[in-house]
Amino acid sequence: MCGIVGAVAQRNITPILLEGLKRLEYRGYDSCGVALHVDGQLQRSRSTSRVADLEHQIEEAHLKGFTGIAHTRWATHGAPASHNAHPHFSPSTDNARIALVHNGIIENHDELRVELTALGYVFQSQTDTEVIAHLVDHMYNGDLFDTVQHAVKRLTGAYAIAVFSREEPHRVVAARQGSPLIVGLGNGENFVASDAMALAGTTDQIIYLEEGDVVDLQLGRVWIVDSNGKQVQRDVKTVQAHTGAAELGPYRHYMQKEIFEQPRVIGDTLEGVTGIMPELFGDGAYNVFKQIDRVLILACGTSYYSGLTAKYWIESVAKIPVNVEIASEYRYRDSVPHPNTLVVTISQSGETADTLAGLKHARSLGMEHTLTICNVATSAMVRECKLAYITRAGVEVGVASTKAFTTQLAALFLLTLSLAQVNGRLTDAEEANHLKAMRHLPVAISAVLALEPQIIAWAEDFARKENALFLGRGMHYPIALEGALKLKEISYIHAEAYPAGELKHGPLALVTEEMPVVTVAPNDTLIEKLKSNMQEVRARGGQLYVFADVDSRITSGEGVHVIRLPEHYGLLSPILHVVSLQLLAYHSAVARGTDVDKPRNLAKSVTVE
Ligand code: F6R
Repeated sequence: MCGIVGAVAQRNITPILLEGLKRLEYRGYDSCGVALHVDGQLQRSRSTSRVADLEHQIEEAHLKGFTGIAHTRWATHGAPASHNAHPHFSPSTDNARIALVHNGIIENHDELRVELTALGYVFQSQTDTEVIAHLVDHMYNGDLFDTVQHAVKRLTGAYAIAVFSREEPHRVVAARQGSPLIVGLGNGENFVASDAMALAGTTDQIIYLEEGDVVDLQLGRVWIVDSNGKQVQRDVKTVQAHTGAAELGPYRHYMQKEIFEQPRVIGDTLEGVTGIMPELFGDGAYNVFKQIDRVLILACGTSYYSGLTAKYWIESVAKIPVNVEIASEYRYRDSVPHPNTLVVTISQSGETADTLAGLKHARSLGMEHTLTICNVATSAMVRECKLAYITRAGVEVGVASTKAFTTQLAALFLLTLSLAQVNGRLTDAEEANHLKAMRHLPVAISAVLALEPQIIAWAEDFARKENALFLGRGMHYPIALEGALKLKEISYIHAEAYPAGELKHGPLALVTEEMPVVTVAPNDTLIEKLKSNMQEVRARGGQLYVFADVDSRITSGEGVHVIRLPEHYGLLSPILHVVSLQLLAYHSAVARGTDVDKPRNLAKSVTVE
């Protein structure tokens, strides 16, 4: 992951770099740093705290410059310590010549380290990045653009880099392979960044670099070559990037705010949907949906769980077989491709490395019908897929995904209905009923949000636990998985989810009086089966925390705590139930005093594999 910003200008660029870093913190926040060209020298400031601390250091040091680079880190090689923070310098002396920042993973860093050490380079960090800095310095021939083009040929792995030299004060060179990088064009000044949002307010004229591109940024000039060293023109796009500087308003954390935004953003995502039609997913969708006879969903993390939920919907309503795969597994396993497959990627950010690689892998196997459900219209995922549905969750600041998940579910339900329609499985009356239920979702979610005080009372209990089990059945099993993921990632309570029927095949051994067992219990066709599973828990002393529906007929008693959702919501019930689990995770984390919006070791956008 990691975020990169760089600039060549005729004004002090530190405010631009720092603002860019603040907006890129979603890509990692283990450490951050800035390097500038100051009076013929390279100077830097680095911090293992947040960007606000770096800003303070820079102010104190009166650090100003016209050319520079900056970085916010998600640690891969080497602990989150200041000596591992970027920018890295080479040589590692007071008179460094090269400054470099990097996003990605260099796979041949060990052999390069040995080679460069033998040449006399002294390493100050455990990072793979420092290897690139020394390599560029070693190969430096007075022309940084030329040098970087040659240096990147020695790298194996994924990288986006930005580099500048003490000897070329008005030049930044950048390159990408496997990690995203954009160029921002200003008036006589130019910029590079991991995404357009980092430059919002500075420029909206954006070039998306392609794989293998190397770019030379000077004051009034941008020059791009492809991986063969051939000069190329890339399209300049006007991008209205959202700054992400959302106000917290009455909320304590962005995650809480985003949970409460769900009624609105689901309404936004469904705005303009007056009827079910394949064209909701783009021109030509009808022909594609007509040709396909199976669906392959690729995603990671929370987005994978929305895909799992969609499998239940699509197979039940549209009667089309669906395979849901964790993208990082799919991309490396031998699978049996089928050309009539609709490949669906699901991603909040649209730049998750494994999902993008999974998509490319599917295409390389001859599966050309691609569709993405994505929250970022300008992302690589949308650019790479033929069809798309853009969810309108807005910027999600909290690292734990909430509103992106429920808007994905809303879009996936539309996909289900569109596939069913093309497949002759949707009557007009059914279409009308489903649309009515979807339009009512914002109201139904608001009613779940109103349960917050009861959920806070449960969260007080959870905060004292170190383990929890989550159970669900059918299409609520993925919701149990998502509830467990939310709890573990922000409260650090170990949580596992199982299909309730699996309990007796192993996990029941964990159940004691100390074990809270969260059960997602809507009044669906599996409710009686689920009640039997709950008895199995109670018989071993387990404490049940049940999210039931108004008519699930489960009552509170000894060891059984029940919160009732006000409505049973049929096929769309997962969208309501997950909201209660988000609130439980959120308030448990708050009670434990964790950094809810920036949980340890994580980042919002996962651009490394
Ligand atoms: C968990 C979470 C992650 C993401 C995953 C995929 O709360 O946010 O599991 O869902 O990293 O990210 P996207 O959806 O951006 O591809």
